[in-house]
Formats: sequence, C-alpha cells, structure tokens
Amino acid sequence: MPWSRSSSNRSAADGDPCQSDRVTIDAVFGQPLPEVVITDDHVELRPFAMVDLDLIEEASRDPFIPTITTVPATYTAGEGAAFIDRQTSRMTSGEGWSLAIVDPDRGRAVGQIGLWISHLSKGRAEIGYWVAPSGRGSGIARAATMAMTAWAFEQLDVDRLSLFIEPWNTASIRTAEAAGFTREALLHDWERVDGVAKDMWSYVRLRSERQISAGQ
Ligand SMILES: CC(C)(COP(=O)(O)OP(=O)(O)OC[C@H]1O[C@@H](n2cnc3c(N)ncnc32)[C@H](O)[C@@H]1OP(=O)(O)O)[C@@H](O)C(=O)NCCC(=O)NCCS
Repeated sequence: MPWSRSSSNRSAADGDPCQSDRVTIDAVFGQPLPEVVITDDHVELRPFAMVDLDLIEEASRDPFIPTITTVPATYTAGEGAAFIDRQTSRMTSGEGWSLAIVDPDRGRAVGQIGLWISHLSKGRAEIGYWVAPSGRGSGIARAATMAMTAWAFEQLDVDRLSLFIEPWNTASIRTAEAAGFTREALLHDWERVDGVAKDMWSYVRLRSERQISAGQ
C-alpha cells in the first residue's frame, strides 16, 4: 500500500503503515519497505518506472552523475531498465527509498532523490539527489529535498538527516542550505568517487532543530 503525506493521518487500525507512530528499524528490518509517494505543491516523489528511461539516458550523459550513482555511463535500453530495477530493489532490501523527482510544471521526472536508512537503529538517515541538466535551475532539487526531509521527520524514528557534499559542488551546497541543512564539518577522505577518496562537507538537519555551527 502506498505511503503518501496526504494519507499520513490514517489510523493504524486501517492497517496502513503510514500511521502516527514513527517507523523504527525494527518495524522495517527484514521486510520490503512500503512503496512511497510524496507530494506537495512543488514536487512529486514517486517510485521509478520504465517511463523514466529518457531521464536515465540524459543523466548518463552528465559528466558527474554516473560517478556518484549507478546511472550507467554508457546508456543502452537494457542498462536503463536495470537502473530502474535496482532502485526498486533498494526498497525490497530495506536499504531505503530511491524515488524519481517529478516536476509538476514539466509533467515528467527530472531527477532522483534517495533516503537511505541503514543506520536508522541509531536514529540516523541520509539523503542524496541529482537532477538531469534539462531539469535544473527551477528550484526542483530544493523542493524535493524539503519534501523528503519533512516526510522523513514525520514518518521515521530519525534524529538526524545527513547530506555529504564535495567542497567544489556549489550547486549541491546551495541546494542543501536552501533546504535548511547546516554545514557541520569537513570529513576527510569520506567517500570514494570514481575510485578516489574525496573530502566531503557534512551537512545536517536535526529533528531537535538545535542550532549548530561547523566545529561545535
Ligand atoms: C545539485 C543539483 C541537484 C541542483 O539541482 P537544481 O534543481 O538545479 O537546484 P535548484 O534549482 O533547486 O537550486 C537550489 C539552490 O541551489 C542554487 N544553485 C543551483 N545550481 C547552482 C549552480 N550551478 N551554481 C550556484 N548555485 C546554484 C540555486 O540558486 C538555489 O539556491 P537559492 O534557493 O538560494 O537560490 C544539480 O545541479 C545536480 O544534479 N548536479 C549534479 C549531481 C550532484 O551534484 N548531486 C549532489 C551530490 S552531493
């Protein structure tokens, strides 16, 4: 049964997983995650479908997206379909939700946003995103990040949402800050990109909304 923000006030007695109690890792461990659709006035986040193959083809031509995702660097219809199948399998494995970002003004998917919950038992989750070049510059990444963040704090037993961003990536830094994330620290050799360990800024949003600044 799909989860959606608009159905979030349905009661547990309905058998709907979208209930007032937040979801803990115990509730999701070892079973497929429910399908989620998140909508507001600015964006829709929904599972990927084969109708999104053109988006994957465009993303594969971006110089950066294939280095930080499993978007194929060389596109074929088979590789595109395999990418879409992999996003569905993230829910089956309990890794998290990988959703297509749909721009209502364009009437199509323009990117991807992930909510990764492998550390949910410690109250932590992580967000990542990309928007294909033809969809950029209209606020859609900011809208998607804000919608995903609001949904995560509403639905999951999470204290802390993280984003990890390379220092050169002004567009992503601006997106994170526009969505209310705060720079926390530079993490040295935090993650491999194209096989090379890269420093990354840690950006966070806390459920407590406690004020923080880098180094404190
Ligand atoms: C980062 C990315 C998702 C931004 O997508 P987008 O839809 O163009 O972003 P938005 O239009 O929502 O803009 C969000 C903010 O970033 C700013 N911004 C976006 N692109 C920018 C750029 N190239 N340079 C400077 N600022 C930029 C916007 O002005 C906006 O800030 P504001 O609200 O303060 O005005 C997109 O550029 C992308 O996919 N890049 C490649 C993949 C990537 O880097 N992913 C993130 C890895 S951490």
